[in-house]
Amino acid sequence: MDFSIKAFDTKNTLASAKTGCVAVAVFENKKLSQAAQALDTAGEITAALKSGDITGKAGTTLLLRGLKGASTERVLLVGLGNADSVGEKAFTSGVQAAVKVFATLGAADAIIALPMAEVKERDANWAIRTVVLAARDGAYRTDAQKSKKDPAAAGVKKIALAVTSNAATKAALAQAIAIANGMQLTKDLGNLSANVCTPTYLADTAKKLGKDYKFGVEILERKQLEALKMGSFLSVTNGSEQPPKFIVLKHMGGKPKDAPVVLVGKGITFDTGGISLKPGVGMDEMKYDMCGAGSVLGTFRAIGEMNLDLNVIGIVAACENMPSGRATKPGDIVTSMNGLTIEVLNTDAEGRLVLCDALTYAERFNPAAVIDVATLTGACIVALGHHHSGVFTRDDDQHNALAEELAAAGRATGDTTWRLPIGEQYNDQLKSNFADLANIGSPGGASCTAAAFLENFTRKYPWIHVDIAGTAWKSGAAKGATGRPVPLLTNFLINRT
Ligand code: BES
Ligand code: MN
Ligand code: ZN
Repeated sequence: MDFSIKAFDTKNTLASAKTGCVAVAVFENKKLSQAAQALDTAGEITAALKSGDITGKAGTTLLLRGLKGASTERVLLVGLGNADSVGEKAFTSGVQAAVKVFATLGAADAIIALPMAEVKERDANWAIRTVVLAARDGAYRTDAQKSKKDPAAAGVKKIALAVTSNAATKAALAQAIAIANGMQLTKDLGNLSANVCTPTYLADTAKKLGKDYKFGVEILERKQLEALKMGSFLSVTNGSEQPPKFIVLKHMGGKPKDAPVVLVGKGITFDTGGISLKPGVGMDEMKYDMCGAGSVLGTFRAIGEMNLDLNVIGIVAACENMPSGRATKPGDIVTSMNGLTIEVLNTDAEGRLVLCDALTYAERFNPAAVIDVATLTGACIVALGHHHSGVFTRDDDQHNALAEELAAAGRATGDTTWRLPIGEQYNDQLKSNFADLANIGSPGGASCTAAAFLENFTRKYPWIHVDIAGTAWKSGAAKGATGRPVPLLTNFLINRT
């Protein structure tokens, strides 16, 4: 898929544009957008609305051919709802419907001439990103491991966005493409089966990114992890035949002395639950338990492509959580890298056990902020569904501001977050008779006790935890990784430059 920006004016008119298809907006109450009016010199669009062939409701489409007033072969009418106020949701559903039609056309290129700069509370840059992400999402295929590939999306391969061409819109387009490419890597890694996407595979992916974008990459092996005394992380990998990998990526795009943002990803390439074995039904979906790691790698691809002017460190703690004669047992007590002892009451609460050592490791970078990303708790899906990622941080001015900074980055990209609490009450739920901490809390608030557990290891820097259990992938017929929260993280980093 190829994207470009194309400005139209009175000389270089939309009506004279030579392209396979032009998408223009129509609205409820039979209203036409400016671009639709420009192609309606012979009245065909007005007639289509009048006859009721298209209502203008957001997300409706109607394909017209051979309009007398336009050089293009096809005009796609796209309903955007209320003419006086095009909302974010209406625009997004219109764009999604348009790219769906594009994919079925006998045309190779198209122009999207929707009102990009007129969406309520949004700007052209937002609209550009929305178009690119929707088109790329529509074109995404999950056939990497099929012997016969799904038929490639027919139709439009080149989309021109009709919007003012200037430095800002060009930068927005480049950013949108970088985010889409990052999401694609994250989706690919998430969708790969766990016998292929092992900790070693994630490490190799990081090495390849390092080569492509000149990141520093370091892979710490079991021996080094033992020397670092990562007893908590290592306890999770005990039952697995796959060697654990602790992956560190460095993008030093800022001034050498600037404190970096550190992204930490949970990289459980398969979560059986360990000795606290999960039920069989749906267990295949636990191949997605590395989506935190996948989104850190995807975000690195995005910032590498943009060569972002910021220092960013990525940490991925990767291993499998398997049962075996050597696996950690319920009640085992392990010592984490920062010295706290942990009673492993449930081996299925393994994400926090790998993350706590990664969070201690992060201290050495004197971070400006640490964001950990993890498919940490099923309870987060119960609380928030698949709409928002859960965000947890300390309740003080600095951390509340950090949470709002992240939330804003999410709202702007449609990759939204919602705040949930941590604090002393949840820490009290984690008390153990035999160790400093238990790895699960007394019943209730399982997402909050998981986050509260992590908080114990993050007291040396500003920190925020993102639970992506509900947002990183979809179950059901459209089963697959979503590429979230790459837009959230990437936009957060862009906003810091
Ligand atoms: N990877 C799971 C969390 C998860 C479950 C994500 C379902 C997405 C869908 C995590 O390791 C886990 O098993 N968490 C347990 C914690 C419990 C033992 C306190 C959970 O959520 O059930
Ligand atoms: Mn688990
Ligand atoms: Zn897990």
